[in-house]
Amino acid sequence: MQTTIKNIETDLRNQVAQAATPKEVEDIRVAFLGKKGSITVLLSQMKDLSLEEKKTTGPLMQALRQTAEGLIEERKNYLINHAAQAAALKEQLFDVTVGLSKAQQGHLHPYTHIVEEIQQIFLSMGYEIWDGPEVETDFYNFGALNIPQDHPARDMYDTFWTDTPGNLLRTHTSTVQIRAMQERKPPIAGIAPGRTFRHEAVDASHDYQFMQCEGLFVDKHVTIGHLFATAQTFLKALFEKDTLDIRIRPGFFPFVEPGFEIDMRCVFCKTGCSVCKQSTWIEVFPGGMVHPNVLKAGGIDPTKYAGFAFGFGLTRLGMLKYGIDDIRLLYSGKLKFLEQF
Ligand code: PHE
Repeated sequence: MQTTIKNIETDLRNQVAQAATPKEVEDIRVAFLGKKGSITVLLSQMKDLSLEEKKTTGPLMQALRQTAEGLIEERKNYLINHAAQAAALKEQLFDVTVGLSKAQQGHLHPYTHIVEEIQQIFLSMGYEIWDGPEVETDFYNFGALNIPQDHPARDMYDTFWTDTPGNLLRTHTSTVQIRAMQERKPPIAGIAPGRTFRHEAVDASHDYQFMQCEGLFVDKHVTIGHLFATAQTFLKALFEKDTLDIRIRPGFFPFVEPGFEIDMRCVFCKTGCSVCKQSTWIEVFPGGMVHPNVLKAGGIDPTKYAGFAFGFGLTRLGMLKYGIDDIRLLYSGKLKFLEQF
């Protein structure tokens, strides 16, 4: 009898330990403690035992029943809690993005980069950033800039005229100089990056639209030296050079006197390359001292104030900085090109 009790207990312990769900535990309970369960059957056989046997095995049988009830209850509770925990964990770790196709990430256009960089440099020198209209009048694009009707300098700018007489797509950003002077009193310092248009045949280095950046500085006692120092400081910052030689040549623009072409030492070579056309100099920065007629057109007294102005090709500088060899790529929308930036 005692061996039977022992065997039942061992069997019970094994089965309970292996039960993986509350349902399985319930089946075990029925198999051992149910109406026809092995422990119940054993207990019902007690009445056939002798008094002596009842005394020894009785307590063992009772103990077996209690053990069985305890083990079964314990396992059932454990499994119920365990299932709840697992469900909570699953919910917590649920990732809605799993299986989503990867979205392509966009980024700024190279034009935006270069404009922001240039603005940052001039802002650090205390300049303002100005904007102006792309459709302009003859007055702002030519007349106020000392280029009256029939002036041969008009031929330098292959102008897109609109259907409205006297209106045009601005051929340069110098238009903003006049607007800025009309709205402010000296000292004045600002730049105007923006789109310009010229009726040009399109090739790798010419487009009918491109970006320029105008600069204007007006105050008392302004000299050519200030212009050169500004050009050099700006170019050094843009091309990230500690030193950068510049060279000055005379240049003609009706709105400045004297006028200059400022070249910088080639930033790509020491002895000549295709970018500098073997000369080691790159032409980058036209400028000059603002012509008295232009100051007057802007409402500023040229006997009291002087100023310098410049108007570099922003597209061209951007192409130099990023090593872009075809201007047509900039507005092409070609992903292969754009993805490099
Ligand atoms: N506006 C001139 C151009 O487009 C450049 C320039 C600006 C030159 C200011 C001198 C001073 O050619």
